[in-house]
Amino acid sequence: MTTLTNQTTAQDLLDFIEASPSPWHAVATCEMRLMAAGFIRLNEVDRWGLIAGGRYYVIRAGSSIIAFIVGEQAASETGLRIIGAHTDSPGLRIKPKPAEDAQGMLRLGVEVYGGPILATFADRDLSLAGRVNVRSGQGFATRHVRFNEPLLRLPNLAIHMNREVNESGLKFNKQTELPLLLGVSAPDTPAEPRFRQLLADQLDVAPTDLLTWELNAYDTQKGVFWGADQEFIASRQLDNLASCHAALSALLATEASKTTCLCAFFDHEEVGSESAAGAGGSFVSDVISRLSSSTGLDAEDQRRMLAHSFFISADMAHAWQPNFPSAYEPGHRVLVNAGPVIKSNANQRYSTSADTAARFMAICEKAGVPCQQYAHRTDLGCGSTIGPIVAARLGISSVDIGSPMWAMHSIREAAGVLDHSYMIAALSTALRE
Ligand code: CO
Repeated sequence: MTTLTNQTTAQDLLDFIEASPSPWHAVATCEMRLMAAGFIRLNEVDRWGLIAGGRYYVIRAGSSIIAFIVGEQAASETGLRIIGAHTDSPGLRIKPKPAEDAQGMLRLGVEVYGGPILATFADRDLSLAGRVNVRSGQGFATRHVRFNEPLLRLPNLAIHMNREVNESGLKFNKQTELPLLLGVSAPDTPAEPRFRQLLADQLDVAPTDLLTWELNAYDTQKGVFWGADQEFIASRQLDNLASCHAALSALLATEASKTTCLCAFFDHEEVGSESAAGAGGSFVSDVISRLSSSTGLDAEDQRRMLAHSFFISADMAHAWQPNFPSAYEPGHRVLVNAGPVIKSNANQRYSTSADTAARFMAICEKAGVPCQQYAHRTDLGCGSTIGPIVAARLGISSVDIGSPMWAMHSIREAAGVLDHSYMIAALSTALRE
């Protein structure tokens, strides 16, 4: 891998994230890349007739997507190679009736989605992206919406009014102190019609045709390279669009495949995955069972297929930050730009076992990339991933891995250029196993 290639690959990741300011946009970005590579869209309401060597994708609820290549050999003999990741990121979501006049200022009420570091949302150039349902004939149509210019802000309180901020930390009351400023109140137009007009103008529809929305406050600042040798990147949504991009890049680089390979990117990981589109729902098992019956496997062969299968749950890992040594398990410090991280937790917060960790180590060795092992401090609660959920749901062998990153769940996260190329190389090898 040359430096130029690594920089180009990381830039492609930053472009992918730039095009994906919400989970709905992330799925649309994946879809565009899949369509350009000749993948065919399947609809869940149609009957599927799949062929060996065929390349397909399915979208559920607009924010989860599964793309796959049907292997040339029967999946009962080879099993499936599956990489999972998530399309959502923690942050602020706009309420269904968000606009209010607040004694001279116009602001939007928000809900906290998942577990963001709220302080990092202050003083950022925020805008809105997501989806809106607009009236269409007797029903409705779903439209993606994105404001490109900064539209919203959560201004900090001056230090003169919050003298303890550097000692006590920056805290927000989630109900009263998080609404985002949008403008100055207009005496003749109340808040709600003004907000609806703004949205309607962006979509080029009448305000009365706006029905419902799911809107995300996103950071308009583009991703950048940084560091003495420009060896790091910083961007919003690295968790977990970096893993989606790495897995998708690996799948798109897979030519003719003996083995059936899938990439499954789910919404709602940051809120526990229990939804129709989430990893705890039926999406992945539905697609796998339809895939296997469409390619002629009976119930017995489907079980044999699952017994042969391997699931890689790709999500980001906590990189060593030398300013906070006491936050880390001293024997398991993982470094940025030192390769994919295998994440283990005896309490099954991660799905990794000794067997699956060894298998992933062998994959990295074959790919010619280094790998690292992570365990959380024993006296700190460990986060989880879709790994244990999918492993339990499908009953298949599974490993939790990810690229090292800093500031997980900050609005602006950071990671390594080289790690992204390492991850693509490892995942590409895993799909060809
Ligand atoms: Co994540």
